[in-house]
Amino acid sequence: MAKGKNTTVFFCQNCGHESPKWLGQCPGCRQWNTFVEEKVTAGSQGKSNGGADREKNKPAALSEISLEEEDRISTHMQELDRVLGGGLVRGSLTLVGGDPGIGKSTLLLQVCRNLSEDKRQVLYVSGEESLKQIKIRANRIGEFGACLKLLCETSLETIEETIRHTKPDVVVIDSIQTMYHESISSAPGSVSQVREATSVFLQLAKGLNTAIFIVGHVTKEGTVAGPRVLEHMVDTVLYFEGDRYAAYRILRGVKNRFGSTNEIGVFEMASSGLKEVFNPSEFMLSGKPEEASGSVVVCSLEGTRPMLIEIQALVCHSNFGIPRRQTIGTDFNRVNLLIAVLEKRLGLSLGNCDAYVNIAGGIRIQEPATDLGIAMAIVSSFKNKVIDSKMIVVGEVGLSGEVRGVSMVQARVQEAKKLGFTLCVIPSVCMDSVKEIKGIRIIGVKNVREAIDLL
Ligand code: TYD
Ligand code: MG
Repeated sequence: MAKGKNTTVFFCQNCGHESPKWLGQCPGCRQWNTFVEEKVTAGSQGKSNGGADREKNKPAALSEISLEEEDRISTHMQELDRVLGGGLVRGSLTLVGGDPGIGKSTLLLQVCRNLSEDKRQVLYVSGEESLKQIKIRANRIGEFGACLKLLCETSLETIEETIRHTKPDVVVIDSIQTMYHESISSAPGSVSQVREATSVFLQLAKGLNTAIFIVGHVTKEGTVAGPRVLEHMVDTVLYFEGDRYAAYRILRGVKNRFGSTNEIGVFEMASSGLKEVFNPSEFMLSGKPEEASGSVVVCSLEGTRPMLIEIQALVCHSNFGIPRRQTIGTDFNRVNLLIAVLEKRLGLSLGNCDAYVNIAGGIRIQEPATDLGIAMAIVSSFKNKVIDSKMIVVGEVGLSGEVRGVSMVQARVQEAKKLGFTLCVIPSVCMDSVKEIKGIRIIGVKNVREAIDLL
């Protein structure tokens, strides 16, 4: 692109692919009709190297780099710290995505409050709410110190100047889609605006060693609106998700340059903001029926954390030729596969039955270790036999009905013990890897039939 010239380019709204002319189908992501025209002023592009002072930049040996004693800042929210990989890293750029109304602004305002109590300089920039509206929200959350400064602004230049001038420790930008750069003529939220804004914040974060949070809205498809490039530019991507109707929210790391992406943080939306849920198992099992068939507790691993979850199944006679199968919170095809295994390997005639499987609490689980639990819940409902309410089940089920090993069985058994369970059914191949724990019986099973016989 020629310097100093206003050019018109076309961007794919889906993946950010750039093209000098309009295209019906994007060559990058193969989506149709996603190109929009945007004016780009050359010169504003291509300065996003994130480096600090150019003159000072020299290659350095790893051994010469000193880690300052305090490169991670605790947000005083254990759940968030864990997802971030042990605290907020100075100079990092974190993108927080999520559906509207899920609690992104609330979470970040609470983070600001905790940090400002630690006497850290915090700047909260809102392009969506007025100062009064933020104040109303803040009043629900609690007392705020003087170290937190608010700014209602959408102009990138002004924000950049403020940050350079005040040099805060932490900055929150709510949201990236409302920020605009005057030299770019396209509307706020467009691909080039979002890209420009992110690159400005990236430079500020690296240059001033300021940790910056960016709030990003999510499209219907569940990705942060704007180009995918955004996710590549930032250090950490967190998604805040959950059922709008259930009180709990889950913060999930999707990308993290400073830690694992498997961790989740669980929060509960209360009248005074978000509360951390330290024991999600207890939360997920509350309200579990005592003597009902079709209900079983499984232990699923979310990152390094075992979580007990109740699986419910309802199997009933189908009134139609084609039986109805429905799943909530788990993979539909996986459940169909398990039903097929039960039919073939156990000879259950499920072919003329409707089957519904629900993961209680509105959470979504994907882990194959919950297979055996799903299978047992289906059989329990089919035979109308109650499963021992003090039992948990873990194991992956293969197509020939064998129960395959799962990881971290010990941690799962311990979690069960903590919540007062007395019986664990695990794959027999994992029997060697678990140490005996007092007060809990562990049974190894080789195949689904052995597990069903325990009913
Ligand atoms: P918000 O943080 O504004 O969501 P986002 O920034 O992701 O769009 O969250 C708004 C929702 O949270 C709203 O539905 C009201 C609810 N809420 C509470 O239940 N309790 C509270 O203390 C606060 C501040 C919000
Ligand atoms: Mg908001």
